[in-house]
Amino acid sequence: MDRVALEATAHALAAPGKGILAADESTPTMGKRLLQVGMPNEERLRREFRETLFTAPGMEEFISGVILFDETLRQSASDGRGMAEILQSTGVIPGIKVDGGAHPMDGAPDEKLTAGLDGLAERCAEYYALGARFDKWRAVITIGDTLPSAACVQANADALADYARISQDAGLVPIVEPEVMMDGNHSIGRCYKVTEWTLNTVYAALADRGVHLPGTLLKPNMVISANDADDRVGVEEVARKTLRCLKATVPAEVPGVMFLSGGQSEQEATAHLNAMNAIGGGPWELSFSYGRALQQSALYAWGGDSANCTVAQAAFLHRARLNGAARYGRYATEMEAEA
Ligand code: 13P
Repeated sequence: MDRVALEATAHALAAPGKGILAADESTPTMGKRLLQVGMPNEERLRREFRETLFTAPGMEEFISGVILFDETLRQSASDGRGMAEILQSTGVIPGIKVDGGAHPMDGAPDEKLTAGLDGLAERCAEYYALGARFDKWRAVITIGDTLPSAACVQANADALADYARISQDAGLVPIVEPEVMMDGNHSIGRCYKVTEWTLNTVYAALADRGVHLPGTLLKPNMVISANDADDRVGVEEVARKTLRCLKATVPAEVPGVMFLSGGQSEQEATAHLNAMNAIGGGPWELSFSYGRALQQSALYAWGGDSANCTVAQAAFLHRARLNGAARYGRYATEMEAEA
């Protein structure tokens, strides 16, 4: 394991003022996004939208890395260059989603376990050769009256740890993503408990596998009430509870905490990140690895028509800039109107 190289990549991804664009939707998930703008799930459209984002002029000021899906890493853009080459040309680090998706657990169909460990070492070696320097594995933890089960939390933590170790041995910085879902009607307090439990289990498993924490990044959910909860809480409370939970569970050697947006609106995701950094953050960089919260406005501005490339890029750059400001606690809602 090349610890020095892994640490350098992790620090570059968590650099001040910057964060990650998660553009690694699987083909079926990308189909759902395209459907939102009335478009069919075609390879050409998937490529065109992603190329629009990746060629947005100046995005490297706010975006340190982009997580790609397998298809995208192998695609060529309209000028013939590979997608990884386009990113590398402006100093943006290409990454790759390596998990095989979350599938119903044996004997527990309401819970999910992420697949993809078979052949992972070989795939990581190939992705490294294609230019990737970091990767991502997403585990899904669902909250319900009797969920999650201890078996679900443990099995997902074990898989994350195996993935992280295999990735580091192949020279890729693993983004460890245990996502406690916002689906349901649970309270913020319940989200806190389950997130704390999950993160403690994950870090015990990472230690057990000898994962080098300074060469990893964490991609957690925020501590937040569920989509259908009665007690929607304010920005400050989400920020305070999330920070308290992370400080109690995430070792200080982890260089960066790169949040997922998980179904929050673009503005909410930015405001929450901003509030955490304004409070003073933690021993790690507090940043973003947003998918929907960086792409939603851009997707609607693009609408499947390449004639809208420039407006879509402007919408994406606007969100990237505001999240860049949130990295320093300098975002204000008035900046939403600056586009
Ligand atoms: P969202 O920010 O849309 O949750 O996506 C981030 C991600 O990569 C989920 O795996």
